[in-house]
Amino acid sequence: MAPEVMHFARRAGTTNISNPKGQHMGRVEGKVAFITGAARGQGRSHAVRLAEEGADIIAVDLCHDVASLKYPLSTPEDFTETVSQVQHHGRRIVATQADVRDVSQLRAALDAGLAEFGRLDVVVANAGIAGLRGEPQIDAWRDVINTNLIGVLNTIDVTLPHLDAGASIIATGSMAALMDVPKKDNPGKNLGGSAYMHSKRAVARYVHDLALELAPSDIRVNAVHPNNCDTHMLHNEPTYQSFRPDLPNPTRADAEPSFMVMQAMPIPYIQPEDVSEMVVFLASDAARYVTGMQMRVDGGGYLKWYDYHV
Ligand SMILES: NC(=O)c1ccc[n+]([C@@H]2O[C@H](COP(=O)([O-])OP(=O)(O)OC[C@H]3O[C@@H](n4cnc5c(N)ncnc54)[C@H](O)[C@@H]3O)[C@@H](O)[C@H]2O)c1
Repeated sequence: MAPEVMHFARRAGTTNISNPKGQHMGRVEGKVAFITGAARGQGRSHAVRLAEEGADIIAVDLCHDVASLKYPLSTPEDFTETVSQVQHHGRRIVATQADVRDVSQLRAALDAGLAEFGRLDVVVANAGIAGLRGEPQIDAWRDVINTNLIGVLNTIDVTLPHLDAGASIIATGSMAALMDVPKKDNPGKNLGGSAYMHSKRAVARYVHDLALELAPSDIRVNAVHPNNCDTHMLHNEPTYQSFRPDLPNPTRADAEPSFMVMQAMPIPYIQPEDVSEMVVFLASDAARYVTGMQMRVDGGGYLKWYDYHV
């Protein structure tokens, strides 16, 4: 299936919305960023924040559901909203409906963007799914691994040949990547959930190893690890059930107080914009010697987990 390509290229001037007189340079002014999972949630926030700081955007999202998952993914309307928010900041965007599990779709999406912008500086491998309570279990395992791990490898695979010195690759992990929880509860009964931890751990290690390999080429590779984040991946029935197993049909209001357990700071979750601030920093030249890092944006969640378990 040929991916649907939506061209929303609007020529931008040298200014952005925060520098109407052209005096202020954005933190990623003139760069081009390739972002997966950009139709909503953190991916949209990264696209909009990078655009606000002067980048043009090549955006990818699936924009349809995955059958094994118990919550909906994005829609084409979500993607259109990302496009208009990026354009609001005077930047250009090429948005393509494509599946990170399919290298040929990803390559076509990237090529559409390169044809428009002619360069690539930043890669944000952000698309991901949560397989909690997914059915059939074996499909949930495969879908999560193929999206969260293989999808990240595919994203880096298609973009690497286009990156030069100074480029920045950012992969989205999760606090789940850092919590080395022994699997003793119901092995074989939560394959989608287990696949999530496995995929994120593998991404973290991949970032570590690739960063060393690419350092001599002056290309940086880092991971961002959000904790609970205020997006559709958190706000859905299977997640509410995992936080409130004592209730048959927990609502958001039922789950909300339990979300607090994941952070050391007194918050139920972080916002997508909190992760975007880290992404903008890692994408920018201010981070020119920052590579191989596992950057937690977690309200102290890892510290709390470590203190309790280690
Ligand atoms: N929300 C959280 O609590 C949380 C915590 C830690 C890490 N994360 C990670 O953050 C990243 C972003 O998730 P989010 O919180 O914005 O959730 P989200 O569900 O709102 O966004 C994920 C986006 O990825 C897209 N996507 C899914 N499969 C895809 C595929 N095969 N190809 C292309 N696009 C695909 C979805 O359509 C959606 O737009 C994910 O990697 C996730 O694992 C989220």
